[in-house]
Amino acid sequence: MKFFVDTADIDAIRELNELGMVDGVTTNPSLIAKSGRDFKEVAAEICAMIAGPVSTETVALDAEGMIAEGRELAKIAENIAIKVPLTWEGLKACKVLSGEGRMVNVTLCFSANQALLAAKAGATFISPFVGRLDDLNIDGMELIAEIRQIYDNYVFSTEILTASVRTANHMKEAALLGADVATAPPAVIKAMASHVLTDKGLDAFLKDWEKTGQKIL
Ligand code: E4P
Repeated sequence: MKFFVDTADIDAIRELNELGMVDGVTTNPSLIAKSGRDFKEVAAEICAMIAGPVSTETVALDAEGMIAEGRELAKIAENIAIKVPLTWEGLKACKVLSGEGRMVNVTLCFSANQALLAAKAGATFISPFVGRLDDLNIDGMELIAEIRQIYDNYVFSTEILTASVRTANHMKEAALLGADVATAPPAVIKAMASHVLTDKGLDAFLKDWEKTGQKIL
């Protein structure tokens, strides 16, 4: 499973990238606002650092506006993926922009039917938001399983990009279900390394090592 980082924080992306943990980046208007930076500037910096797709989002509500914005965003760098919302207008924009050979990430997906439409419209990525479904007591991971089955049934090449990831468990479940990609905040990716028994075991080993009075270096 590919790891995308869900942030516009350059330092956090750099740190994970140096460990080989970054296959791409996703941003959205909320993350850009949080960064407090000019969106073109920050997107260009991320694109220069990361070889994989960097999603930046359109904000128009009509297809024509999304297409114009998408073409403008695509000028930032070769590896820009244009994010459009999963609305009827967004699907129209997806069809046009993907027809021009651009990467399109159809975002704000909350149902298998929406994902089916996005694949038919030529989306490169479909972004089902698992965390926001969980917030409503709807199992977000069930949606990933449904989309996986539908895409496999008809051999759609659209990649399932598990989004709105809130926990390390979401990452594990996405990988078990065969999601192509999961995008997560840096803290969630780092949390995947943590286990209470690792900490406990390390503590015991270090105490016993101290008793030996030996040194490695
Ligand atoms: C990524 O593409 C999405 O915009 C992001 O994962 C949304 O996450 P949130 O529901 O935590 O805001």
